[in-house]
Amino acid sequence: MSSVAKPQPTYKNIALVGGSGNLAAHIIEAFKQAGSEFNVTILTRHESIDKARKAIEGYSQFDIKGVDYTDKHSIVQALVGQEVAISLLAYAAFAYQPTIIEAAIEADVKWFIPSEFGVDVERHPNKTLPMFAQKLRARELLESQSKLAYTYILVGEFADVFVLPLFGIDFEKRTVNIPGKGTVPITFTSQSDIGKYTVAVLRRLPQFKNKSVLFGSFIASYDDWIAEIEQATGAKFTVIHEPLEELESRVSSYIRDKSTAYQLHAISDQIRFANGSGTVLLGPDINTYDSASFNEVVPETLHEVATRVIPK
Ligand SMILES: NC(=O)c1ccc[n+]([C@@H]2O[C@H](COP(=O)([O-])OP(=O)(O)OC[C@H]3O[C@@H](n4cnc5c(N)ncnc54)[C@H](OP(=O)(O)O)[C@@H]3O)[C@@H](O)[C@H]2O)c1
Repeated sequence: MSSVAKPQPTYKNIALVGGSGNLAAHIIEAFKQAGSEFNVTILTRHESIDKARKAIEGYSQFDIKGVDYTDKHSIVQALVGQEVAISLLAYAAFAYQPTIIEAAIEADVKWFIPSEFGVDVERHPNKTLPMFAQKLRARELLESQSKLAYTYILVGEFADVFVLPLFGIDFEKRTVNIPGKGTVPITFTSQSDIGKYTVAVLRRLPQFKNKSVLFGSFIASYDDWIAEIEQATGAKFTVIHEPLEELESRVSSYIRDKSTAYQLHAISDQIRFANGSGTVLLGPDINTYDSASFNEVVPETLHEVATRVIPK
């Protein structure tokens, strides 16, 4: 455990909603390291309870409650006594977030952290992208009431899932399809760092009342990733530059006709358009991000993450 002095949290009773997922596993890991600083209650669907139970085996600071996201009463009951609720729901479950926010208000929860963990959705063109509509809806709800304080956690792109066809990186074909210029900077945070930074934010929550908190492990471009990929694999990748105007034209068609906007290829286009537009960058200097002042966390570097995730 780190010997760096840490602030004392104002709120200790934390609920993780959707607590059996991918990001949740990293946040749970960080809570394990925090020991008795927090009491953590995992809200999870009944079918996910066994998975959640395995994740916390042997750690006494955790509790698990089964819920049904279509039944507000079950969520209110599970949230009674909780001070902070962190929603970790997946994209496929964003439609349940308004119910969870209403349940948190009814249960007298003090603070809500919605399932954001991405880009600044208020920024253009992010704000126009159908894939972010539900995140904006949750923001509207939170900003239209005064009982729950809220904080939006922004992380840019998850660093450890970037080398995937969804982002234009194909290891089988050895190709990288770059949206626009390869030099455009993007903010990346590894999920392990998101876990540690989230716990660090909970130690300092009043500083981030009703605003965004910026996380970042490092800033890198597609070109930086290609250099890491070619070094790690010893192979040369074929690089294709897709003009941003072509991506923009497809993205405009999803905005006009939302029926295809949520298919995988359309999500890929929207993410890559944001990447190429430079709006996944949360700020030009990582040292000015909020996470840079969380002294108890040493962020991962591009090289460390790349070494861990690039298939050899
Ligand atoms: N910036 C990035 O690059 C990036 C990348 C990936 C994700 N994210 C964000 O990170 C957050 C968490 O994502 P994740 O990847 O950790 O999500 P995930 O593992 O796919 O799912 C999280 C939880 O959502 C619930 N869930 C999933 N599908 C559901 C369905 N069909 N019906 C009801 N509930 C469902 C489950 O809750 P139970 O535990 O109750 O079963 C699951 O454990 C999201 O806000 C996402 O947008 C950002």
